[in-house]
Amino acid sequence: MDKEWISAIQSECGLPQFKPNSTSWAWEKKAFAIWQMSGDECELLSIAVEQAERGKGLAKMLMEHCHKELVKLGAKNFFLEVRENNTAAISLYKKLGYEKISERKGYYANGENATIMKLISNH
Ligand SMILES: CC(C)(COP(=O)(O)OP(=O)(O)OC[C@H]1O[C@@H](n2cnc3c(N)ncnc32)[C@H](O)[C@@H]1OP(=O)(O)O)[C@@H](O)C(=O)NCCC(=O)NCCS
Repeated sequence: MDKEWISAIQSECGLPQFKPNSTSWAWEKKAFAIWQMSGDECELLSIAVEQAERGKGLAKMLMEHCHKELVKLGAKNFFLEVRENNTAAISLYKKLGYEKISERKGYYANGENATIMKLISNH
């Protein structure tokens, strides 16, 4: 996986810098997702799609692929945290079956709240 490309796209999107690990997947140089697995719990650390490639279903396809691969590794529970104003990402996660389970007030440097979501059902 191209670490420099992942770092560059994370900067472009204003996302924290996460390095790809053994539970990371990419679709060409168009989309990537980085997860952290601990026991049977998984957390999505970072996901982004190149600007020109958005709205084509890539993130949804990649997330479904990640879920399948992580289940093969023993995953049972999937969590993620997202800025409450990130409507595109929240809509994507809801479409995949994630539901809000909690909120962290003022979590981000700009005072924005974090929405914590868990995969409840695989549609
Ligand atoms: C969020 C992101 C990964 C979505 O990638 P994408 O490939 O464009 O998403 P998809 O095409 O797979 O869309 C799947 C669903 O997500 C939702 N969605 C995607 N883009 C959306 C937008 N701009 N507005 C509203 N909903 C959107 C829709 O529900 C969509 O389903 P639909 O096409 O049936 O309407 C992308 O916008 C991105 O890289 N954003 C910047 C990085 C980021 O915010 N990452 C998330 C950090 S938590």
